[in-house]
Amino acid sequence: MSDAVAVVTLPELLRMKQARCKIAALTAYDASFAHILDAAGVDVILVGDSLGMVIQGHAHTLSVSLQDIVYHTQCVARSVRRALIVADMPFMSYHTPVQAAENAALLIQQGGAHMVKLEGGRQRADIVRFLSGQNISVCAHLGLLPQSFHQLGGFSVQARDEHAARILLEDALVLQEAGARMLVLECIPAHLAAEVSAELAIPIIGIGAGSDCDGQVLVTYDLLGLTQGRQPRFVKNFLAEAGSVSGAVDAYVRAVREERFPGVEHVF
Ligand code: KIV
Repeated sequence: MSDAVAVVTLPELLRMKQARCKIAALTAYDASFAHILDAAGVDVILVGDSLGMVIQGHAHTLSVSLQDIVYHTQCVARSVRRALIVADMPFMSYHTPVQAAENAALLIQQGGAHMVKLEGGRQRADIVRFLSGQNISVCAHLGLLPQSFHQLGGFSVQARDEHAARILLEDALVLQEAGARMLVLECIPAHLAAEVSAELAIPIIGIGAGSDCDGQVLVTYDLLGLTQGRQPRFVKNFLAEAGSVSGAVDAYVRAVREERFPGVEHVF
């Protein structure tokens, strides 16, 4: 009997959006966690630059280097059989189209990523278009942009007013038109994320963006209650009830699929 597993591809994620089957995504930075996530049926594993905070102990993500992400993506890729692996492009690793393409190529060729993620709105459209033209799959990221930590003065909910909400929706459409194949929305009002998810054809993955996105992502250390300090409103500790790491990840995947997470208490 074959033990082959059906791998998660971008067309499959698109089909899930169209079928209204919620996509479960989580971060991983090493082989052991990636194995647990993959076995639990997590569809998308993000090697996020959040590793700068939860692995390296920084207050933000700005110190993370391309080599850090390559290394952690390699660790993850060695144990993933099914999930789609997305690698974050670190701060200042995508400020020209050619530099972005060279760095994305390293994440794919050396790291083993299937897709790269970068932060920013319409000002990134040329980069997204260039990468897409080189057959590099791009996930865009709007709302709270952790790489703008100093400009934002910290982490807070974005696009609360009507003007900022319109800009975000326009940015999402521009990025989709430029070739983005997936979009992460971080920390925005749930009604805006619902509108973006309905307007765009590509899968929308929310974190702190309500339950009407096509999927959800969390930093795995947050769902295990490992992160120090005050937890953001959108975080739920799944370990407390499940009692084991794999049980917590299983519970998260089920809660996302059955639309029990995020609940009203996790939403802005
Ligand atoms: O770096 C990361 O983990 C992320 C998620 C918060 C979406 O970008």
